[in-house]
Amino acid sequence: MRSVCILGTGYVGLVTGACLAEMGNRVTCVDIDARRIRSLQAGEVPFCEPGLNELVQRNIVSKRLSFSSEYSVGISGADVIFLCLPTPSSPSGAADTRILRSAVESLAPLISPPYPVIVNKSTAPVGTCSLLKRLLQKNNLGLHSVQVVSNPEFLREGSAISDFMHPDRVVIGAQDSAAAASIESLYAPLDTTVLITDWKTSEMIKYASNAYLATKISFVNEVANVCELVGADVSQVTAGMGLDRRIGSSFLRPGVGYGGSCFPKDVLALTHVAVMHNMHPRLLRAVMEVNADQAKRVLHKLKGQLGDLDGALIGVWGIAYKPDTDDIREAPAIEIIRLLEQEGARVRAYDPVAMPKAAPNLPDVTMCSDAYDAAVGADAVLLLTEWKEFESVDLHRVAASMSTPILIDGRNVIDQAKAESAGFRYTGVGRGTSTVAGFGRQERMQRAS
Ligand SMILES: NC(=O)c1ccc[n+]([C@@H]2O[C@H](COP(=O)([O-])OP(=O)(O)OC[C@H]3O[C@@H](n4cnc5c(N)ncnc54)[C@H](O)[C@@H]3O)[C@@H](O)[C@H]2O)c1
Repeated sequence: MRSVCILGTGYVGLVTGACLAEMGNRVTCVDIDARRIRSLQAGEVPFCEPGLNELVQRNIVSKRLSFSSEYSVGISGADVIFLCLPTPSSPSGAADTRILRSAVESLAPLISPPYPVIVNKSTAPVGTCSLLKRLLQKNNLGLHSVQVVSNPEFLREGSAISDFMHPDRVVIGAQDSAAAASIESLYAPLDTTVLITDWKTSEMIKYASNAYLATKISFVNEVANVCELVGADVSQVTAGMGLDRRIGSSFLRPGVGYGGSCFPKDVLALTHVAVMHNMHPRLLRAVMEVNADQAKRVLHKLKGQLGDLDGALIGVWGIAYKPDTDDIREAPAIEIIRLLEQEGARVRAYDPVAMPKAAPNLPDVTMCSDAYDAAVGADAVLLLTEWKEFESVDLHRVAASMSTPILIDGRNVIDQAKAESAGFRYTGVGRGTSTVAGFGRQERMQRAS
């Protein structure tokens, strides 16, 4: 059993802490947000992540997992300290490492021999481990022998526990083989490949991985856009591509663009690093450009059906940036709702879990009790997050309640034939040229009256 301290109880910190406790370690999670710590002490997870409530509660009861808002409490006696802290975009696009740096300055005076290994799990640019090591030495003269390790996290929100417990790989970047072995042994219960590298390589693996996944999404979105123009069906195109083992079938699903707290900021940060080294990151820039346009395409499709959006009532299904999370950071739905409002449309929205977080950011949006409620009287419904429950809505009931039965399926969730037989004018992503004409503004107004 190891004694572990986790700084930061967000998606990464809390999942890491709870999973390491489940693996038999004694874990204290520390956060500067005292309210968050109080709710965690009461066994309440402050965000939506499947299975996490049960995991946290079980490990609190077994006394392997505890929470504190005091660094000194978590750090005292710890063998390993994980930094799971935010690294947001700064105005220049670079990853802002100020929170990481200030956390290390705060913890430096609190540690003494035998020193814990300091592990950075936050996504932070190449050079961060080296910087943290220098900061430790500056803030505590005895810290020359303290070891810093890079251990990037690859979990996905919505399947975070399973991703942590069954990772495709664990990456450890270290200067010192004993420090690497110490962190490797923490992961020993997991059946996975452990890749040990130097600091810089480990830091780069995380950025390269996220940038590649974002590139795949923008690539398939661009392919889908071409499919629309030439009349091909992107779902069959990607099925055909995915059967090629060199390509693989994952991350080949077109939609309204990537979002969340990672891909947008990490692609931007990698672009910034390249620019700082006098490189022109053309591919990464194109990835971001395609992504920004993909959200706007939803509006173009809507206008193609409705014409002017001024005064239109639009139902929105899904706000979270992806299903099984209430995370709305950089969610494409939020951007699309803002664009709708700029055009003068009114919005009724429904998301199974993200509405409490979204409502303060969207004061003019009517938050609804379910998908049916969001569609009542609407001129069109936009499906923007692929929540499972949207697959089984009664399309006849929805169509009958709408002013004009238009469905823009931004995630290709709904069966087109079923939607059309329920009376919808359906537009998906990359599903060939629509064979049905749109409703003009006049027809819309006639139907509404
Ligand atoms: N969310 C993901 O899916 C994911 C996946 C892989 C990597 N990452 C990376 O992991 C890092 C953390 O991401 P997250 O999504 O868990 O963040 P988050 O915003 O969900 O949580 C961060 C937590 O850190 C706390 N905090 C802030 N300053 C602190 C300080 N000085 N001391 C202690 N706690 C402090 C905040 O109160 C918050 O609870 C980021 O670098 C992110 O890019 C995130």
